[in-house]
Amino acid sequence: MKTLPKFGSGAGFYVPAQRSNVATKTSVMIETCDASLIVSEDDNLLDVLLASGHEIDYQCRGGYCGSCRVKVSSGSVEYDDFPLAHIGSDEILPCCCRAATESLKLEVSLRQADCPQQGDLFDGNCLSKKK
Ligand code: FES
Repeated sequence: MKTLPKFGSGAGFYVPAQRSNVATKTSVMIETCDASLIVSEDDNLLDVLLASGHEIDYQCRGGYCGSCRVKVSSGSVEYDDFPLAHIGSDEILPCCCRAATESLKLEVSLRQADCPQQGDLFDGNCLSKKK
């Protein structure tokens, strides 16, 4: 599992750079397939995942299209408005929600270019390195 550097300090975890008031908010631990992130409870999950280099599709950013759908292994989220896109009981739409528990496990991976464990497409051995 890759632990992303904290923006600006070089310490262990990713924290969105725009959040200067993180200390006054409840921190949330997000674990993905290959990274751990500490974010504020107010952070939009799609913004956090994209900023930390995760591979995630999105279109509407409003809970309508469902293209950002991600499976959640543990924890829960809350939506500002109930999303219109269909999601399963183990899925969330990160474009329009925030973490509602102190930890959240999401089944999403880093983009290959950001993930040191992944092989290069042209190194001749990338298929054997994929999960
Ligand atoms: S981007 Fe459309 S539902 Fe999330």
